[in-house]
Amino acid sequence: MTAKYRIKPYPLDEVKPGMEIGRMVLTRDKKIVLSEGTILSQSMIEGLKFWDISTVFIKELLSDEPDIDFSIPETLQQKKFYADYDDTVHALKESFAKIRFFKEVPLAAIRELTNNSIDPLVNSTGVINHIHMIRRQDDYTFHHSVNVAVICGVLGKWLGFAEQDLQDLMLAGLLHDVGKTQIPLEILNKPGKLTPEEMEIMRLHTIRGYRLVCDIPNLPMGVAYGVFQHHERFDGSGYPLGVASDKIHDYAKIIAIADIYDAMTSDRVYHRKITPFAVVDMILEEMFHKLDPEIGIVFLNNIRDFFVGNIVELSDGRQAEVIYLGHFLASRPVVVTSDIEYIDLERNKSLSIVKVIRA
Ligand SMILES: [Fe+2]
Repeated sequence: MTAKYRIKPYPLDEVKPGMEIGRMVLTRDKKIVLSEGTILSQSMIEGLKFWDISTVFIKELLSDEPDIDFSIPETLQQKKFYADYDDTVHALKESFAKIRFFKEVPLAAIRELTNNSIDPLVNSTGVINHIHMIRRQDDYTFHHSVNVAVICGVLGKWLGFAEQDLQDLMLAGLLHDVGKTQIPLEILNKPGKLTPEEMEIMRLHTIRGYRLVCDIPNLPMGVAYGVFQHHERFDGSGYPLGVASDKIHDYAKIIAIADIYDAMTSDRVYHRKITPFAVVDMILEEMFHKLDPEIGIVFLNNIRDFFVGNIVELSDGRQAEVIYLGHFLASRPVVVTSDIEYIDLERNKSLSIVKVIRA
């Protein structure tokens, strides 16, 4: 335990003479009003009112205050989630191996997996955070399919889907890449970037998946569309047909968002894992042309709630807890570091979140 300082934001009407400025005060047009270390007087506080400054960062001495300990052991609930998740990935892997060989989708088994395994994962508290914490080195397709099914279930619930509709949407999520069972393994598992020719073959997974599911009697059409259209984009820039907006089924639009979110937040051979904070900002950018904005807004507004409380690593190497997300970029929240400095990343652009340590 050591005496420490912290820098904490205060609304101007709570600022008193004698307080010390912890961070340079700037006007809206970036002129310096007061520099760090200044001891405030009443006339300076009046000056801040004149400049229309609403928040001031104050440096405070904390005596005998311990560092914040961010290490919290895994809860029983998390352990159960990870165990159930592993069983689900394993079951899907077995089903997909059979589909590769027999070219037939065992619908009853996949439906059972959706209702008995995916559905409970969707309803677990903290589901989005648990998914982020799962290490996935091998078996990318199966992990990804389970994750997309779970995210589809979560997003579907936010959109008001229920009962059979929600189950069909999760089923579509679980099967969205089933066509990859008809892609040669040397392309599917190739480490490194695909050549343009290999990429063309990989893209066939939409059509091959559609053919596989079309053979299933009584399969809801939405599920088949989800498989066929999940790489179509709202502005018509996707594949295989390049159809746009209302020509794309809702299930396919929902899968597209779940697919992008999971692919970008996961470790892959050819790209670095990106923090969910940054991915949410990318989805926000894409939302107004490539993704359905109505579905995108619901996704972004709700998923941000999972980020408060995340323990992150900052670009200066310090650990910090996310304590508040403003209305703007998710990647620039207010955090408190383990040595108790409050940092608004929206204002302090020299720092950024590089990693999520505990979601
Ligand atoms: Fe896909």
